[in-house]
Amino acid sequence: MGRLVSGEEMAEDNFETSIRPDSIDEYIGQAELKENLNIFMKAAKMRGEALDHVLLYGPPGLGKTTMAYIIANEMDGNIKTTSGPAIEKSGDLAAVLSTLEPGDILFIDEIHRIPRFIEEILYSAMEDFKLDIIVGTDASSRNITIDLPPFTLVGATTRAGDLTGPLRDRFGIVSKLNFYTEDELKQIVLRTSRVLKSSISEEAAMELAKRSRGTPRIANRLFKRVRDYALVMGDGNIDLSITKLALDKLKVDAFGLDATDYNLLSSIIEKFNGGPVGIDALASSIGEEASTIEDVYEPYLLQNGFLKRTSRGRMVTEKAYKYLKKGEQDTLF
Ligand SMILES: Nc1ncnc2c1ncn2[C@@H]1O[C@H](COP(=O)(O)OP(=O)(O)OP(=O)(O)O)[C@@H](O)[C@H]1O
Ligand SMILES: [Mg+2]
Repeated sequence: MGRLVSGEEMAEDNFETSIRPDSIDEYIGQAELKENLNIFMKAAKMRGEALDHVLLYGPPGLGKTTMAYIIANEMDGNIKTTSGPAIEKSGDLAAVLSTLEPGDILFIDEIHRIPRFIEEILYSAMEDFKLDIIVGTDASSRNITIDLPPFTLVGATTRAGDLTGPLRDRFGIVSKLNFYTEDELKQIVLRTSRVLKSSISEEAAMELAKRSRGTPRIANRLFKRVRDYALVMGDGNIDLSITKLALDKLKVDAFGLDATDYNLLSSIIEKFNGGPVGIDALASSIGEEASTIEDVYEPYLLQNGFLKRTSRGRMVTEKAYKYLKKGEQDTLF
């Protein structure tokens, strides 16, 4: 079983497409991004042009893919999707680019994983709507240029820092998605409950929001699990007490921390004296990939002051010491 409070997508999230908001008005939170996009989309429509290319970055599960689909809807374009890892040869990228029609949205997920030598094809495609490719081999090879229709590239990444400067510079709209507030997550849970036609009380929705690490994907996932508890152990109504009971059984604590977080924080305390410790040493001490720690576990712990990053590595904070010393980890795990 995957980790319940990871923002990363898991197989059980396949219900997501049905609960995805499909207009910008239904998209909760990220006020600044929404406001800007609304203006840019209106202006592009008034001019009869394609929207400028958009780069969305931030931790997993915050709504990047959802926003890409919303942009396509709002701009009345078709969306073609691919991802960095799926593009291995320049021909893979040329193939998707050549299917584009005027006003289409090309969504490239995990765009930081496009191989560098292929990235260059994107430069002229984004800038001049031209596809430069080499056909043939050796002596008979030549360059050909194909005109592309005006289109909008929407790129998503959890690691903006891994993008090259030239690629990043070709996006007219660059936006970071932030963790959601408890109130926004509560609205998302209430919306999901309406879409899935199972009622939840306001307090229960708030409790879920508090334990969802600022992440809509986690809020929706926890909602779905709690709904099962309510059905089997209660009368189907999702109230505060069944929610608390379910979340405790699921080992998600009051801050949304789980055993992995406790393990990470207590490793730093016990094995590295509270830090600073380098990411690689920390990764091997808890048996996780360094990149997973950086992309998935750490952002929320940093944001909430359990962990801090210094030039010499990660350190736990006073808050983490206090929190772990309360002994909650003994009762929970
Ligand atoms: N602003 C929002 N309002 C309502 N629901 C949202 C919002 N953002 C995300 N969601 C919900 O959270 C789920 C996850 O969002 P999404 O798949 O867009 O995340 P992501 O940022 O693309 O994640 P990843 O980095 O893993 O690709 C969606 O199915 C959607 O239901
Ligand atoms: Mg996504």
